[in-house]
Amino acid sequence: MNYHVLTLFPEMIENCIETSITGRAINKGIISFEAVNIRDYATNRHKHVDDYPYGGGAGMVMQVEPIHLACNAIKEKAGANTRVIYLTPQGRVFNQSIAKELAKEEELIFLCGHYEGVDERVIEMDVTDCISIGDYVLTGGELAAMVVIDAVSRMVPGVLSNEDSGVNESFENNLLEYPQYTRPEIYEGYKVPDILLSGHHANIEKWRREQSIYRTLKYRPDLLDEAVLDKKDKKYLENIKISLHSQD
Ligand code: ADE
Repeated sequence: MNYHVLTLFPEMIENCIETSITGRAINKGIISFEAVNIRDYATNRHKHVDDYPYGGGAGMVMQVEPIHLACNAIKEKAGANTRVIYLTPQGRVFNQSIAKELAKEEELIFLCGHYEGVDERVIEMDVTDCISIGDYVLTGGELAAMVVIDAVSRMVPGVLSNEDSGVNESFENNLLEYPQYTRPEIYEGYKVPDILLSGHHANIEKWRREQSIYRTLKYRPDLLDEAVLDKKDKKYLENIKISLHSQD
C-alpha cells in the first residue's frame, strides 16, 4: 500500500504516520507514504495556493491549478486510475467497512483541504471519493487523512503482528468488542470477572459474545440492525432488553 498525501503541512502527516504501528509497517516495507506539499506546484512567484472566493464571502479557497498539477504528477507514478480521496465534512461518513474496502487498493491519494475548502473544479476533475470522519469541522483535512490512513493500514495484511487481532474487535459484524483485562487479578478492590480465570474456553466465548451484544445494545443500539445474530444471540438480546426496561 502506497499512500500519497497532498497537503500544505507535510510535517503533520510525517510526524504522525512514522509513529507506532504505521511506522513499523513502513520499516517492514508493507506500506509506504509520501507527503506532497501542494505549494511546490504553485506557478506564481509568491507560491500562493489560495485566493478569494468568487461571489464574495468569508475566507480563502484553495485554487484548482496547484492541486490538479500535484495530482497529475502523482498519477504518473501511481497510475491514472488511482483513487483520490478528498477529506471533507461533506463526504461519506467513514467506517470500518470503508476502511476494509480501501485496504484492497495498492495506491491511494489523499487530498487535505484548508481554509474554506477547495475550488469545486478539483472535485469535478480529480476527486473520486469524498470522506468525512464525523459531523464536526476540523481546521484542515490532515487529521482526518491520518484517521483514515491509520484505520486502513490496520486492514492491510501483515501490518498487525497477530493477523487475528483484527477479527474479534469492535465493528466486526457490527458489534462492539467485549471487555478485556490483564494482570493484576485485583487492583484496588476491582476484580477481573471470575469467568475469565476459570480456564473454561466455551464459557469464556459465550460470556464474551454476550458482553459484545450487551455493550452494543447499551452504547450503540443503532448497530444492532445490521448485526448478524444467531438464535442464542437473539434470545440473549431479548432477555437483556427486558431486564434493561425493568430497570427504567
Ligand atoms: N475537514 C474538515 N472537517 C473534516 C471532517 N469532519 N472530516 C473530514 N475532513 C474534514
